[in-house]
Amino acid sequence: AAPTRYEAESSPAVCTGTIDSNHSGYSGSGFCNGNNATGAYAEFTVNAGTAGTATLGVRFANGTTSARTADLIVNGSTVQSVSFEATGAWNTWVTKTLTVSLRSGSNTIRLNPTTSNGLANIDYIDV
Ligand code: GCU
Repeated sequence: AAPTRYEAESSPAVCTGTIDSNHSGYSGSGFCNGNNATGAYAEFTVNAGTAGTATLGVRFANGTTSARTADLIVNGSTVQSVSFEATGAWNTWVTKTLTVSLRSGSNTIRLNPTTSNGLANIDYIDV
């Protein structure tokens, strides 16, 4: 099936930071600029029709010169560490593809930065 898009600025998504729109190219009305702090997260609530493996597309931008790392936390469990590499500019958006295991029904997917640099800017996830 075609993926469903979950915008970082749309409730019930949570952004520990601000929803910004100052870097062009984002989808929807803005993106999550998480605070530059460990644990300042972006969290999405996604619905899965059936339990099993799902492909997750995370669209992000990182205009710094170094990668930003985050834990991928699904339903409260950390399942992997993700490196959001430098994309060259804050208005250069890249989609990173991850694989996650979901349960049937509602799931939370949180990107939780592991350094005080915080998250890359997060536009949306496609599931
Ligand atoms: C800049 C940029 C923000 C970004 C921030 C950061 O301030 O304009 O969009 O989130 O750097 O380093 O995280």
